[in-house]
Amino acid sequence: MMLDGKKLAASIYDQLSHSIKQIPDEITLGAVLVWGEDSPSMRYIRQKRRECKKIGMWFSLFQFEKNISQNELIQELEKLNNDDIITWYIVQLPLPEHIDESEVIKHISPIKDVDWFHPENQGKVMLADPSWFTPCTPAGVMKLMHEYDVPLPGKHVVIIWKSNIVGKPLIQLCISQWATVTSCNSKTPDLSLFTKMADVVIVATGKAYLLTHDMLGKHTSVIDVWFSVINGKVCGDAEYDSIISHWHNITPVPGWVWPMTVAMLLSNTLSAYEKQSRS
Ligand code: GUN
Repeated sequence: MMLDGKKLAASIYDQLSHSIKQIPDEITLGAVLVWGEDSPSMRYIRQKRRECKKIGMWFSLFQFEKNISQNELIQELEKLNNDDIITWYIVQLPLPEHIDESEVIKHISPIKDVDWFHPENQGKVMLADPSWFTPCTPAGVMKLMHEYDVPLPGKHVVIIWKSNIVGKPLIQLCISQWATVTSCNSKTPDLSLFTKMADVVIVATGKAYLLTHDMLGKHTSVIDVWFSVINGKVCGDAEYDSIISHWHNITPVPGWVWPMTVAMLLSNTLSAYEKQSRS
């Protein structure tokens, strides 16, 4: 069965739009973008702006030249941290190579960080308190599994890749749901040894067609998070056609987990507003 993140994201947008209509205030999401017209980040940003507009949230873009220095960028974040209008913002990743992403993320104010990337917020994911937020892609993956009845308690989840924004938070989130979790990476000698034993495989490497149906046991669910572009074609990390024809659940690429990421970002932003108005 196809796990349809696009359909699920659309229903989340309907709920968000309905909630925003009841709110007297304007909610604004700020976004910092470094780099020009044709970067992957620009494409992500366009989608975020489009979805904000559809649900009635304001979107404020702070765009900087590709050659901005790390220090200059950090100074710009400090300005946003002190800006009363921009209550929440994100720094769109990836950043150009000369900038150390981890260092920049440390300078986002943790209370304005609706991506939930700041080390303080990432630490809270470890503690699994539902009153906090979750980084957007892991939140989207968890929601997708929940809505499509992919059970986790007592199941074996294999997570391929260990990035700070996807792989590591997912390890924590799956453990919190009583799954047995194996974390694999590019140095794992024989991936299929683990994937064959998995009930769920979450793959986020950006390596085209790394996961094939012969690497899976029966009825495994596959969540394919990332993508690569080969000869102009967007390819998933998993070989969708052969995997779905062998009775597995799978998210197709392009476009099925990413809409969930954006939906979770806007959902975090609305929740941040609601928390602030209650306090
Ligand atoms: N780049 C890829 N995924 C994300 C995300 O969830 N947030 C931001 N800010 N950048 C990203």
